[in-house]
Amino acid sequence: MRNFRIWRGDASSGALEDYQVEVNEGEVVLDVLHRLQATQTPDLACRWNCKAGKCGSCSVEINGMPKLACMTRMSTFTADETITVTPLRTFPVIRDLVTDVSYNYVKAREMPAFSPPPDLAPGEYRMQQVDVERSQEFRKCIECFLCQNVCHVVRDHEENKLAFAGPRLFIRAAELDMHPLDARTDRKEHTRDRQGVGYCNITKCCTEVCPEHIKITDNAIIPMKERVVDRRYDPLVWLGRKIFRRDQVEQQAAAEDTTPAPASPETVTHRASPGQVNWAQEIQVPPAPAVGPDGRFAMSEVLIDRAGAPSPFGDDVTFPVDPEQLRYLHPRTDED
Ligand code: SF4
Ligand code: SF4
Ligand code: FES
Repeated sequence: MRNFRIWRGDASSGALEDYQVEVNEGEVVLDVLHRLQATQTPDLACRWNCKAGKCGSCSVEINGMPKLACMTRMSTFTADETITVTPLRTFPVIRDLVTDVSYNYVKAREMPAFSPPPDLAPGEYRMQQVDVERSQEFRKCIECFLCQNVCHVVRDHEENKLAFAGPRLFIRAAELDMHPLDARTDRKEHTRDRQGVGYCNITKCCTEVCPEHIKITDNAIIPMKERVVDRRYDPLVWLGRKIFRRDQVEQQAAAEDTTPAPASPETVTHRASPGQVNWAQEIQVPPAPAVGPDGRFAMSEVLIDRAGAPSPFGDDVTFPVDPEQLRYLHPRTDED
């Protein structure tokens, strides 16, 4: 038998409750939560899906440390230790160990998507292996939001959530800014002005808790800060701005003025391509939900049946899909 102390309650009130529960060799904290549900507290709310450290659902705080419950072995605690399990502190509690993490999704929606150059046809996507590897580190993210939870900028400062996107989104910004096929030129400005990278003071807490061991600060935040500073304060760039003719500066400003419009129902027209792909078909982008003054949207928004993104095959198609209808093709191997 082991001692557990678990936070029970909802948005209005709650308290830590003590339990004694059987633990078997090789078990993880999530196993024990499931045993509690099966034997003592059938109404204990906790989120989980994969039980393999890959879905990012079971994030909680265990003895005050943000962790995945399914990857925290019981053998790491001493036999007489009381194990305290509490919900993530940075996000509002829904019930027991389940929190409302919609803040992260709102911030993700604000991030302009990957934008390849307009004249690049499918099949012409070529990258050096070193560029692939750089992105792949960031693509390991399982969206557990432990890094967002531990970041002091928002952990005890609800008011910063409007201006600060957090480390999970900084790695996305870095991935796109370092991507050789991303044609947007305003990533650095977006990270500075819309994501609030200046709030981060490189405490590295986010890196410490990341279960995927992504070097969030060293490989994403610090390079992005350097890129922001290079763009804004480099004396050569400043001099270049001064000596450009006005019409050149205006042309450049127009080219760089790609600030994302506020989310609204709209139609995206994809570019035409000389390849087999119909890039010209129009796709309805679903409307974004209304965001409240606190930076979140209502919980009902994540519960309704809303399409996450347009289907690459369009609506109402039969399979196999006609290649003319595809918006993306892998490079043809016979040309490699
Ligand atoms: S390094 Fe920056 S983003 Fe990461 S936890 Fe610290 S302040 Fe937050
Ligand atoms: S960067 Fe790491 S800690 Fe942050 S959400 Fe992704 S996997 Fe989780
Ligand atoms: S249940 Fe999927 S990461 Fe823990």
